[in-house]
Amino acid sequence: MTKPRVLVTRRWPEAVEAALKERYDLVLNEDDRPMDEDGLRAALRDMDAVLPTVSDRLDAAVFEVENPKARFLGNYGVGYSHIDTEAAKRHGIVVTNTPDVLSDCTADLAMALLLASARRIGEGERQVRGKAWSGWHPMHMQGGKVAGKTLGIIGFGRIGREVAKRAHHGFDMKVVYFDKYPAKPEVERDLGAERRDTVDDVLAEADFVSLHCPGGQENYHLIDAERLKRMKPTAYLVNTARGEVVDGAALAEALNAGTIAGAGLDVYEGEPKVNEALLACENAVLLPHLGSATKDTRIAMGMRVLQNLDAFFAGKEPPDRVA
Ligand code: DGY
Repeated sequence: MTKPRVLVTRRWPEAVEAALKERYDLVLNEDDRPMDEDGLRAALRDMDAVLPTVSDRLDAAVFEVENPKARFLGNYGVGYSHIDTEAAKRHGIVVTNTPDVLSDCTADLAMALLLASARRIGEGERQVRGKAWSGWHPMHMQGGKVAGKTLGIIGFGRIGREVAKRAHHGFDMKVVYFDKYPAKPEVERDLGAERRDTVDDVLAEADFVSLHCPGGQENYHLIDAERLKRMKPTAYLVNTARGEVVDGAALAEALNAGTIAGAGLDVYEGEPKVNEALLACENAVLLPHLGSATKDTRIAMGMRVLQNLDAFFAGKEPPDRVA
C-alpha cells in the first residue's frame, strides 16, 4: 500500500520526524522558512496531509484550490486561530491540534513573565549588562510584590488552570477568573479561584492579569485602551495566548502613561514583527513566543500530531479534532 504523502511545514524535533518518516511519505521544508500562501496552496493541492503551525496563515483564500488532495491538517500547537476552520470544513478537511502536552510549560512561562515584569528583571539585566549598575541602594529598581496578591485569569481552560495552580499554591495568590464556562466547584476550591461575571470585573480587581483565551476574531483586541483603563495603575498584564487579543499600540500608550505598571508579553499581533512603541517600553518584558519551547514539550507536541494523523489514516476519529 502506498504511504500517505505528508508535508511538515517547519522542522520538528528529530525523534518526531523519524517517527513520521517510518509511517508516511514525508516531505520536509528543509530550510525551515515560513511558507507563503502559494506554497501552502500547493501543499493542499498535492499532499494527503499537511502539518502546519502558528507561522502558517491558512485563511480562506489558501483553501481556494481546485480539487485539493489534502484531507487532514494536523496543527502543531494548541492555538489554531491562524487556520480558517470554517473554510477547512467547507473543503472537507479535518483539523486537529495538540492540547494538554504544552499546558505546564506555557503556564511556567506565564509565571516567568509575571515575575519578570513585576520584579523588573528585563530592566535589571539590561542595567547590569550595560555596566550602568552603580550598586545596591534602598531606592533601587523597586518593583511590585507578587506573593499574596490577586491574579486575574481571562480564559480558564487547561493553561489558565495551570497558571492558577502555580499562583495559588506557589505564591499564595488569590485567583479570580473570567470564562464563559464556570469551572466545577471542586476545581475552583482546589485552585483557590473565584469566577467573576465579566472580563471588566476581573480587570478591576486584579493586581496581575494573565490572558489564556483563544485568539482569532472572537477575542480580537479584547484588551484595548478602554479595558486597560479599567486595570489598576499598579497592575501588570501578561499575554502568552495570542497577540491579537491585545491592542499593542494601546498597550504601549498605557505603559508609557502609567495607566498600568508593566507587561510581560510572549505573543504579538502580526508576529514576528513587534510594535515599535512596545519595543521602546522599559516596563515591558518581551519574549519571542517561547510558551511551549522546551525540548520535552516540542517532542510531545509532535507525537500528539502523529497520534491524530495515525488515527485519521486508520479511519478512526482523531482524538484532538477541532474541525
Ligand atoms: C500553541 O501551541 O498555541 C503555541 O502558541 C504555538 O502555536
